[in-house]
Amino acid sequence: MLNVKATIETKDQTFYGRDFLTLLDYTPKEISKLLENALEIKNNKAAYSEALKGQSLGMIFENASTRTRVSFEVGMTQLGGHALFLSPKDMQIGRGEPVKDTANALSRYVDAIMIRTNSHELVEDLALHASVPVINALTDNYHPCQAMADLLTILEHKGSLKGRKIAYVGDGNNVAHSLLVASAKVGMDMTIATPEGYEVNAEIFEKAQKAAEETGAKIVQTHDPKAAVTDVDVIYTDVWASMGFEQEQEQRLKQFFDYQVNDELTLLAKEDFIFLHCLPAHRGEEVTAEVIDGNRSVVYDQAENRLHAQKAILLALLSN
Ligand code: CP
Ligand code: NVA
Repeated sequence: MLNVKATIETKDQTFYGRDFLTLLDYTPKEISKLLENALEIKNNKAAYSEALKGQSLGMIFENASTRTRVSFEVGMTQLGGHALFLSPKDMQIGRGEPVKDTANALSRYVDAIMIRTNSHELVEDLALHASVPVINALTDNYHPCQAMADLLTILEHKGSLKGRKIAYVGDGNNVAHSLLVASAKVGMDMTIATPEGYEVNAEIFEKAQKAAEETGAKIVQTHDPKAAVTDVDVIYTDVWASMGFEQEQEQRLKQFFDYQVNDELTLLAKEDFIFLHCLPAHRGEEVTAEVIDGNRSVVYDQAENRLHAQKAILLALLSN
Protein backbone atom coordinates (compact mmCIF):
# COMPACT_ATOMS: atom_id res chain seq x y z
CA MET A 1 0.00 0.00 0.00
CA LEU A 2 1.15 3.51 -0.78
CA ASN A 3 2.39 5.56 2.12
CA VAL A 4 -0.28 8.23 2.27
CA LYS A 5 1.47 10.14 5.02
CA ALA A 6 4.62 10.48 2.96
CA THR A 7 2.62 11.47 -0.11
CA ILE A 8 0.59 14.11 1.59
CA GLU A 9 2.72 15.64 4.31
CA THR A 10 6.01 17.38 3.81
CA LYS A 11 7.70 19.85 6.07
CA ASP A 12 6.27 22.94 4.41
CA GLN A 13 2.95 21.42 3.38
CA THR A 14 0.90 20.50 6.38
CA PHE A 15 -2.76 19.92 5.74
CA TYR A 16 -3.74 17.81 8.73
CA GLY A 17 -6.59 19.24 10.80
CA ARG A 18 -7.14 22.33 8.66
CA ASP A 19 -10.46 23.68 7.42
CA PHE A 20 -11.23 23.92 3.70
CA LEU A 21 -13.42 27.03 3.45
CA THR A 22 -11.82 28.92 0.55
CA LEU A 23 -8.75 28.47 -1.63
CA LEU A 24 -7.57 31.86 -0.36
CA ASP A 25 -6.34 29.93 2.70
CA TYR A 26 -4.12 27.64 0.60
CA THR A 27 -0.83 28.49 -1.10
CA PRO A 28 -0.17 27.81 -4.78
CA LYS A 29 2.19 25.05 -3.71
CA GLU A 30 -0.45 23.42 -1.51
CA ILE A 31 -3.03 23.59 -4.31
CA SER A 32 -0.57 21.96 -6.71
CA LYS A 33 0.11 19.25 -4.16
CA LEU A 34 -3.61 18.54 -3.73
CA LEU A 35 -4.01 18.29 -7.51
CA GLU A 36 -1.03 15.97 -7.74
CA ASN A 37 -2.53 13.82 -4.98
CA ALA A 38 -5.92 13.80 -6.72
CA LEU A 39 -4.31 12.42 -9.88
CA GLU A 40 -2.40 9.85 -7.87
CA ILE A 41 -5.59 8.72 -6.07
CA LYS A 42 -7.53 8.66 -9.35
CA ASN A 43 -4.91 6.43 -10.97
CA ASN A 44 -4.36 4.18 -7.95
CA LYS A 45 -7.78 3.92 -6.34
CA ALA A 46 -7.17 0.55 -4.67
CA ALA A 47 -4.06 1.76 -2.85
CA TYR A 48 -6.18 4.17 -0.78
CA SER A 49 -9.09 1.88 0.03
CA GLU A 50 -8.26 1.79 3.74
CA ALA A 51 -6.63 5.20 4.11
CA LEU A 52 -9.48 6.64 6.20
CA LYS A 53 -10.62 3.41 7.81
CA GLY A 54 -12.89 4.05 10.77
CA GLN A 55 -13.23 7.77 10.05
CA SER A 56 -16.56 9.54 9.59
CA LEU A 57 -17.62 12.66 7.71
CA GLY A 58 -20.76 14.51 8.79
CA MET A 59 -22.40 16.17 5.78
CA ILE A 60 -24.86 19.00 6.52
CA PHE A 61 -26.92 19.93 3.46
CA GLU A 62 -29.21 22.92 3.83
CA ASN A 63 -29.57 23.10 0.03
CA ALA A 64 -30.10 20.52 -2.71
CA SER A 65 -27.16 18.61 -4.18
CA THR A 66 -26.50 15.72 -6.54
CA ARG A 67 -22.77 15.78 -7.29
CA THR A 68 -21.45 17.08 -3.99
CA ARG A 69 -23.47 14.71 -1.85
CA VAL A 70 -22.78 11.61 -3.89
CA SER A 71 -19.10 12.33 -4.54
CA PHE A 72 -18.34 13.03 -0.87
CA GLU A 73 -20.27 10.00 0.33
CA VAL A 74 -18.77 7.66 -2.26
CA GLY A 75 -15.35 9.26 -1.74
CA MET A 76 -15.42 8.45 1.98
CA THR A 77 -16.53 4.89 1.24
CA GLN A 78 -13.73 4.42 -1.30
CA LEU A 79 -11.22 5.63 1.31
CA GLY A 80 -12.49 3.08 3.83
CA GLY A 81 -14.45 5.63 5.86
CA HIS A 82 -18.09 6.53 6.25
CA ALA A 83 -20.28 9.58 5.57
CA LEU A 84 -23.52 10.67 7.22
CA PHE A 85 -26.09 12.79 5.41
CA LEU A 86 -27.44 15.35 7.87
CA SER A 87 -30.42 17.51 6.97
CA PRO A 88 -30.98 20.65 9.06
CA LYS A 89 -34.67 19.83 8.69
CA ASP A 90 -34.07 16.86 10.98
CA MET A 91 -31.35 18.38 13.14
CA GLN A 92 -31.67 20.59 16.19
CA ILE A 93 -29.75 23.36 14.37
CA GLY A 94 -32.87 23.64 12.18
CA ARG A 95 -34.85 24.36 15.38
CA GLY A 96 -32.48 27.07 16.56
CA GLU A 97 -29.74 25.16 18.40
CA PRO A 98 -26.68 27.44 18.46
CA VAL A 99 -23.99 26.68 15.87
CA LYS A 100 -21.48 26.48 18.71
CA ASP A 101 -23.29 23.56 20.35
CA THR A 102 -23.79 21.73 17.07
CA ALA A 103 -20.12 22.22 16.16
CA ASN A 104 -18.86 21.01 19.51
CA ALA A 105 -21.17 18.02 19.75
CA LEU A 106 -20.52 16.86 16.17
CA SER A 107 -16.78 17.20 16.78
CA ARG A 108 -17.08 14.51 19.45
CA TYR A 109 -18.51 12.02 16.93
CA VAL A 110 -17.15 12.72 13.46
CA ASP A 111 -13.66 13.35 12.07
CA ALA A 112 -14.71 16.15 9.71
CA ILE A 113 -17.81 18.20 8.94
CA MET A 114 -18.86 19.17 5.43
CA ILE A 115 -21.54 21.84 5.04
CA ARG A 116 -23.62 23.38 2.23
CA THR A 117 -25.54 26.48 3.26
CA ASN A 118 -26.08 29.99 1.91
CA SER A 119 -24.32 31.97 4.63
CA HIS A 120 -20.53 31.86 4.45
CA GLU A 121 -20.40 33.46 7.90
CA LEU A 122 -22.30 30.49 9.33
CA VAL A 123 -19.67 28.15 7.90
CA GLU A 124 -16.90 30.29 9.40
CA ASP A 125 -18.70 30.19 12.72
CA LEU A 126 -19.04 26.41 12.52
CA ALA A 127 -15.32 26.14 11.74
CA LEU A 128 -14.45 28.41 14.63
CA HIS A 129 -16.22 26.17 17.13
CA ALA A 130 -15.54 22.74 15.61
CA SER A 131 -12.40 20.94 16.72
CA VAL A 132 -12.41 18.87 13.51
CA PRO A 133 -11.86 20.16 9.94
CA VAL A 134 -14.82 21.91 8.30
CA ILE A 135 -15.20 21.69 4.51
CA ASN A 136 -17.21 24.26 2.56
CA ALA A 137 -19.49 22.43 0.12
CA LEU A 138 -20.97 25.68 -1.29
CA THR A 139 -21.96 28.98 0.24
CA ASP A 140 -23.17 32.15 -1.46
CA ASN A 141 -19.52 33.24 -1.59
CA TYR A 142 -17.44 30.19 -2.52
CA HIS A 143 -17.40 26.66 -3.93
CA PRO A 144 -13.77 25.61 -3.35
CA CYS A 145 -14.27 21.86 -3.88
CA GLN A 146 -15.78 22.61 -7.28
CA ALA A 147 -12.80 24.81 -8.17
CA MET A 148 -10.38 21.99 -7.32
CA ALA A 149 -12.27 19.65 -9.68
CA ASP A 150 -12.25 22.40 -12.32
CA LEU A 151 -8.46 22.78 -12.07
CA LEU A 152 -8.00 19.02 -12.22
CA THR A 153 -10.14 18.82 -15.37
CA ILE A 154 -8.25 21.65 -17.11
CA LEU A 155 -4.94 20.08 -16.11
CA GLU A 156 -5.97 16.71 -17.56
CA HIS A 157 -7.34 18.11 -20.80
CA LYS A 158 -4.78 20.86 -21.40
CA GLY A 159 -1.70 19.40 -19.73
CA SER A 160 -0.93 22.58 -17.76
CA LEU A 161 -2.55 25.41 -15.82
CA LYS A 162 -0.01 28.23 -15.62
CA GLY A 163 -0.32 30.58 -18.57
CA ARG A 164 -3.62 29.07 -19.77
CA LYS A 165 -6.56 31.38 -20.43
CA ILE A 166 -10.06 30.86 -19.09
CA ALA A 167 -13.22 32.92 -19.62
CA TYR A 168 -16.18 32.77 -17.27
CA VAL A 169 -19.37 34.15 -18.79
CA GLY A 170 -22.46 34.80 -16.68
CA ASP A 171 -23.26 35.54 -13.05
CA GLY A 172 -20.50 36.73 -10.71
CA ASN A 173 -21.49 34.07 -8.18
CA ASN A 174 -19.96 31.55 -5.75
CA VAL A 175 -18.57 29.36 -8.55
CA ALA A 176 -17.08 32.39 -10.32
CA HIS A 177 -15.47 33.54 -7.06
CA SER A 178 -13.78 30.21 -6.38
CA LEU A 179 -12.65 29.84 -9.97
CA LEU A 180 -11.21 33.34 -9.82
CA VAL A 181 -9.23 32.56 -6.68
CA ALA A 182 -8.16 29.19 -8.10
CA SER A 183 -6.97 30.77 -11.36
CA ALA A 184 -5.06 33.45 -9.50
CA LYS A 185 -3.37 30.84 -7.30
CA VAL A 186 -2.23 28.64 -10.19
CA GLY A 187 -1.19 31.45 -12.54
CA MET A 188 -4.01 31.02 -15.06
CA ASP A 189 -5.38 34.16 -16.78
CA MET A 190 -9.08 34.64 -16.16
CA THR A 191 -11.57 37.06 -17.64
CA ILE A 192 -15.05 37.25 -16.17
CA ALA A 193 -17.84 38.71 -18.31
CA THR A 194 -21.02 39.56 -16.42
CA PRO A 195 -23.96 41.86 -17.07
CA GLU A 196 -23.79 45.19 -15.23
CA GLY A 197 -24.88 44.75 -11.64
CA TYR A 198 -23.82 41.08 -11.52
CA GLU A 199 -20.06 41.56 -11.19
CA VAL A 200 -18.10 39.45 -8.71
CA ASN A 201 -17.83 40.60 -5.10
CA ALA A 202 -15.33 43.49 -5.03
CA GLU A 203 -13.60 42.28 -1.86
CA ILE A 204 -13.09 38.78 -3.26
CA PHE A 205 -11.85 40.24 -6.55
CA GLU A 206 -9.28 42.28 -4.64
CA LYS A 207 -8.10 39.23 -2.69
CA ALA A 208 -7.81 37.23 -5.92
CA GLN A 209 -5.86 40.05 -7.51
CA LYS A 210 -3.37 39.99 -4.63
CA ALA A 211 -2.91 36.26 -5.15
CA ALA A 212 -2.54 36.84 -8.89
CA GLU A 213 0.28 39.32 -8.31
CA GLU A 214 2.31 36.49 -6.78
CA THR A 215 1.78 34.07 -9.67
CA GLY A 216 1.61 36.47 -12.62
CA ALA A 217 -1.99 35.57 -13.48
CA LYS A 218 -4.02 38.24 -15.26
CA ILE A 219 -7.46 38.68 -13.67
CA VAL A 220 -9.91 40.87 -15.59
CA GLN A 221 -13.60 41.81 -15.32
CA THR A 222 -15.63 42.99 -18.30
CA HIS A 223 -19.20 43.31 -19.55
CA ASP A 224 -18.19 42.09 -23.01
CA PRO A 225 -18.56 38.30 -23.40
CA LYS A 226 -16.99 38.32 -26.88
CA ALA A 227 -13.82 40.03 -25.68
CA ALA A 228 -13.69 37.60 -22.73
CA VAL A 229 -13.76 34.40 -24.78
CA THR A 230 -11.45 35.49 -27.59
CA ASP A 231 -8.51 33.06 -27.86
CA VAL A 232 -9.18 31.29 -24.58
CA ASP A 233 -8.44 27.63 -23.76
CA VAL A 234 -11.46 27.21 -21.50
CA ILE A 235 -14.99 28.63 -21.46
CA TYR A 236 -16.97 28.26 -18.24
CA THR A 237 -20.49 29.20 -17.29
CA ASP A 238 -22.97 28.54 -14.48
CA VAL A 239 -26.67 29.10 -13.88
CA TRP A 240 -27.99 32.65 -14.02
CA ALA A 241 -29.94 32.29 -10.76
CA SER A 242 -28.17 30.37 -8.01
CA MET A 243 -29.87 28.61 -5.12
CA GLY A 244 -31.47 31.27 -2.95
CA PHE A 245 -31.92 33.65 -5.91
CA GLU A 246 -34.69 31.75 -7.71
CA GLN A 247 -37.19 34.58 -7.20
CA GLU A 248 -35.00 36.73 -9.51
CA GLN A 249 -35.10 34.16 -12.31
CA GLU A 250 -37.52 36.04 -14.61
CA GLN A 251 -35.68 39.33 -14.29
CA ARG A 252 -32.31 37.63 -14.77
CA LEU A 253 -33.42 35.84 -17.93
CA LYS A 254 -33.75 39.27 -19.57
CA GLN A 255 -30.58 40.76 -18.10
CA PHE A 256 -28.38 37.79 -19.01
CA PHE A 257 -29.76 37.36 -22.54
CA ASP A 258 -26.51 38.45 -24.24
CA TYR A 259 -24.38 36.23 -22.00
CA GLN A 260 -25.45 32.83 -23.32
CA VAL A 261 -22.60 30.49 -24.26
CA ASN A 262 -23.61 29.38 -27.76
CA ASP A 263 -21.87 28.30 -30.97
CA GLU A 264 -21.47 31.87 -32.17
CA LEU A 265 -19.64 32.87 -28.99
CA THR A 266 -17.45 29.77 -28.76
CA LEU A 267 -16.18 30.34 -32.33
CA LEU A 268 -14.04 33.12 -30.85
CA ALA A 269 -12.18 30.77 -28.51
CA LYS A 270 -9.19 28.64 -29.51
CA GLU A 271 -10.21 25.81 -31.82
CA ASP A 272 -9.35 23.22 -29.17
CA PHE A 273 -11.05 25.03 -26.29
CA ILE A 274 -12.91 23.00 -23.65
CA PHE A 275 -16.29 23.88 -22.19
CA LEU A 276 -16.88 23.56 -18.45
CA HIS A 277 -20.01 23.93 -16.30
CA CYS A 278 -20.25 22.95 -12.64
CA LEU A 279 -23.82 21.61 -13.24
CA PRO A 280 -26.75 21.60 -12.81
CA ALA A 281 -27.19 23.36 -16.17
CA HIS A 282 -30.17 25.07 -17.79
CA ARG A 283 -29.97 24.32 -21.53
CA GLY A 284 -31.29 27.24 -23.55
CA GLU A 285 -30.38 29.73 -20.80
CA GLU A 286 -26.70 30.12 -19.83
CA VAL A 287 -25.62 27.52 -22.44
CA THR A 288 -27.14 25.98 -25.54
CA ALA A 289 -27.58 22.23 -25.89
CA GLU A 290 -25.23 22.38 -28.91
CA VAL A 291 -22.38 23.57 -26.70
CA ILE A 292 -22.92 21.58 -23.52
CA ASP A 293 -23.68 18.39 -25.46
CA GLY A 294 -21.10 19.17 -28.16
CA ASN A 295 -17.64 17.72 -28.70
CA ARG A 296 -15.76 20.49 -26.82
CA SER A 297 -17.73 19.90 -23.62
CA VAL A 298 -16.04 17.95 -20.80
CA VAL A 299 -18.67 18.56 -18.14
CA TYR A 300 -19.03 14.90 -17.17
CA ASP A 301 -15.25 14.51 -16.74
CA GLN A 302 -15.47 17.62 -14.60
CA ALA A 303 -18.31 16.10 -12.54
CA GLU A 304 -16.31 12.89 -12.09
CA ASN A 305 -13.31 14.88 -10.92
CA ARG A 306 -15.31 16.16 -7.93
CA LEU A 307 -14.83 12.65 -6.54
CA HIS A 308 -11.05 12.51 -7.06
CA ALA A 309 -10.35 16.09 -5.97
CA GLN A 310 -12.39 15.67 -2.81
CA LYS A 311 -10.74 12.37 -1.94
CA ALA A 312 -7.42 14.23 -2.06
CA ILE A 313 -8.82 16.97 0.17
CA LEU A 314 -10.26 14.46 2.67
CA LEU A 315 -6.99 12.51 2.81
CA ALA A 316 -4.98 15.67 3.29
CA LEU A 317 -7.10 17.01 6.12
CA LEU A 318 -7.68 13.66 7.84
CA SER A 319 -4.43 11.69 7.53
CA ASN A 320 -1.91 12.11 10.32
N1 CP B 1 -21.69 21.30 -8.93
C1 CP B 1 -22.34 20.95 -7.81
O1 CP B 1 -21.97 21.35 -6.71
O2 CP B 1 -23.40 20.14 -8.02
P1 CP B 1 -24.48 19.72 -6.92
O3 CP B 1 -25.29 20.96 -6.59
O4 CP B 1 -25.31 18.67 -7.60
O5 CP B 1 -23.79 19.20 -5.71
N1 NVA C 1 -24.06 28.75 -8.50
C1 NVA C 1 -24.83 27.55 -8.28
C2 NVA C 1 -23.91 26.39 -8.13
C3 NVA C 1 -24.60 25.09 -7.89
C4 NVA C 1 -23.62 23.95 -7.75
C5 NVA C 1 -25.71 27.73 -7.06
O1 NVA C 1 -25.23 28.29 -6.07
O2 NVA C 1 -26.86 27.33 -7.10
